[in-house]
Amino acid sequence: MYFNNAATTWPKPEIVYETVDECFRNLNSPDRTHSAEGAQSSSTMQTCRKEVAEFFGIDDETRLVFLPSCTYALNLAILGQAWTKDDVVIMSGLEHHAVSRPIRKLSRERGVEFKISPYTPEKPFDLDWLEEELKTGKVKMVACTMAANVTGDILPSIEIGQLCKKYGVRYLVDAAQSAGVLPVDVKELNADFMTFAGHKGLFGPPGIGGLFVRDGIVLDTLAEGGTGKDSGKHDMSGSFPSNFEVGTHNLIGITGLCAGVRWVKQAGLDAIRDHEHSLLIRFIEAISSIPGIKLYGSENLERRTSVCSFTLQDMSPQKIATWLSETYGVSTRAGYHCAPQSHETIGTIPGEGTIRFSFGFSNTVEEIDAVTGMLAELPRHATV
Ligand SMILES: Cc1ncc(COP(=O)(O)O)c(C=O)c1O
Repeated sequence: MYFNNAATTWPKPEIVYETVDECFRNLNSPDRTHSAEGAQSSSTMQTCRKEVAEFFGIDDETRLVFLPSCTYALNLAILGQAWTKDDVVIMSGLEHHAVSRPIRKLSRERGVEFKISPYTPEKPFDLDWLEEELKTGKVKMVACTMAANVTGDILPSIEIGQLCKKYGVRYLVDAAQSAGVLPVDVKELNADFMTFAGHKGLFGPPGIGGLFVRDGIVLDTLAEGGTGKDSGKHDMSGSFPSNFEVGTHNLIGITGLCAGVRWVKQAGLDAIRDHEHSLLIRFIEAISSIPGIKLYGSENLERRTSVCSFTLQDMSPQKIATWLSETYGVSTRAGYHCAPQSHETIGTIPGEGTIRFSFGFSNTVEEIDAVTGMLAELPRHATV
């Protein structure tokens, strides 16, 4: 039983496996081969770029850059901007390392100050506090996840975007946990930057992610090299998206991502969310009565993705996860989930973090009933 879909969704829809296999066998490298397969590779990539852009409400698909991961996309968006000492960046208390580490690097190396929004489970991001900060005129960017990977809390992303627009501040949306889970539309969000991972809610393979950059924003490169275009020039062309897509494209990843996006569109975001959410509700109802359990995140499950983090008495989350895995073959993830900022915010640092269950489209009611039965037994295994 696999309950680690917030890390990566698994299994993938059959069409994703088929598409990846077909691409690996029949296509090669876009913009680099003078052959029928080369031309087809280039046009396939263009089609994928257009479809993925449309999925996110991006009108001009050249503003969508394919990158090896959401982490790389966040680093490019954050470190690729021009910063001056004493600029302020705001983030939530629930950020993943992929946001918080590059921002902390900016602070260490370029003198940028970062501030973290106050948090309560029912108000994971404080909009009143944000507006007071924006009024100072020092904030250059707000960088926030749409949904937290540790607690599943959904942040008020649209409202944050409206405030950023009102005060002329840049807004970076990390959609790693929301793409394929919640509607993500860069226009509705007023996003200047939006990043996503291909291998989570979009059901693509690992090794592919993306970055949207609003027209007019100048971004420096993090890596330079061949793009398949402007081959005769010594320097990078500066044009989107090729300026940032250096090295041979991961066409397998791109086509796999596109197949996943098509599958999500066909299944429907609402149907996916309804199914996963009903599993979350059933799971939480069943485990809430276990003596000593402490659940994290909003009690209003409408404001949560299908992620549930908890601790149980003083048992080690890692040991619980190992016990579940070794005794029953159940996959979860325990510890800090690459998000110590989040664990400090919810109070599980100091401590060993939480054990996290994250449900996916392939999980079933029967699996939830089976695993909650195992968890009910847990207090009797106090040595775990
Ligand atoms: C909120 C959030 N942001 C960014 C990332 C980074 O995604 P990737 O590991 O695919 O680069 C993750 C991955 O778990 C995440 O949960």
